[in-house]
Amino acid sequence: MSEPRTIIVTGGGRGLGLAAAEKLARAGHRVLLTARDRKRGEQAVQQIHHAVPGGRVELRILDLAALASVRAFAGEVLHEGLVVDVLLHNAGIMQQSRERRVTGDGFEETLQTNTLAPFLLTRELLPALARSTAARVVCVSSMLHMPGTRGEPVNFDFDDPQLLRGYHPDRAYKNSKLALLWWTYELQRRLAPRPITANAVCPGFVPVTAAESVRGPMRWFMRHVLAHMPFARSLDQAAGALAWMAVDPAMEGVGGKYYTDRAELRSSDDSLDPALAARFWRLACELVAIPDWP
Ligand SMILES: NC(=O)c1ccc[n+]([C@@H]2O[C@H](COP(=O)([O-])OP(=O)(O)OC[C@H]3O[C@@H](n4cnc5c(N)ncnc54)[C@H](OP(=O)(O)O)[C@@H]3O)[C@@H](O)[C@H]2O)c1
Repeated sequence: MSEPRTIIVTGGGRGLGLAAAEKLARAGHRVLLTARDRKRGEQAVQQIHHAVPGGRVELRILDLAALASVRAFAGEVLHEGLVVDVLLHNAGIMQQSRERRVTGDGFEETLQTNTLAPFLLTRELLPALARSTAARVVCVSSMLHMPGTRGEPVNFDFDDPQLLRGYHPDRAYKNSKLALLWWTYELQRRLAPRPITANAVCPGFVPVTAAESVRGPMRWFMRHVLAHMPFARSLDQAAGALAWMAVDPAMEGVGGKYYTDRAELRSSDDSLDPALAARFWRLACELVAIPDWP
């Protein structure tokens, strides 16, 4: 077992976040499990305590669709003087409706939840990560950021990052996961040589949790048919891969990489373009109204 770490897992109320949090608690780490809904978060913490008696897991409230909540949560962590060893950006959404949704902060909801809010949270928590002797930022992206995947293609337009024109939920999701890779890789370049690494991971296709984002017969089909296909990952496999990114000694000192199934993979050409990554970094700073950092 690796040394006990303090780990923030976003979106820990259900799905992969909950399963990864349980694995990390079972391995003896202290987990700050975040949820936007207190009741769901309390149930998740209870579930882990039941499965892992004595497990060190605590609930924190964090709503990525509200930047004030991001700042409040980070402020709490800093105020408590916590050393954050791992920040696992797991929370994410995949909309189904063709209707473009906007957060109270005025951003397209997928871009804010999956990309901009985690970017801001990382920046706000940097002092707590800097207190660790070896910190990790792990961003859960998706293979759907690659060109040629099913549905509407990825197509990030810097002149229309919030999809005011041509909104489609697939495109919003894919663009958000591409942009997440941009800032993850750029963060790694900017953090070096600090002892903080930034990597991204795709958990693979996990129908049992992905089913939560869809309704009707498709939900049933995902849970009962797709979940048994050879290309599907079980919840246990995928959560295990996230926990591995967070704490396995094999990832020590590794940064700026993209993994799936505990193996490095090449992400899309666009994601690896440093000029695009730097451009997105500047855009993200501008959108969430922070100066260039670190
Ligand atoms: N499942 C797959 O096949 C798959 C494949 C590739 C990548 N991924 C990525 O893996 C991650 C986890 O996916 P999953 O399958 O576990 O999805 P999930 O079951 O839908 O869980 C998503 C989690 O994100 C949280 N969340 C959503 N909006 C939030 C917000 N505004 N603020 C804070 N938390 C919020 C949810 O909280 P609530 O309970 O409050 O909604 C939930 O805990 C996501 O980033 C997803 O994009 C999944």
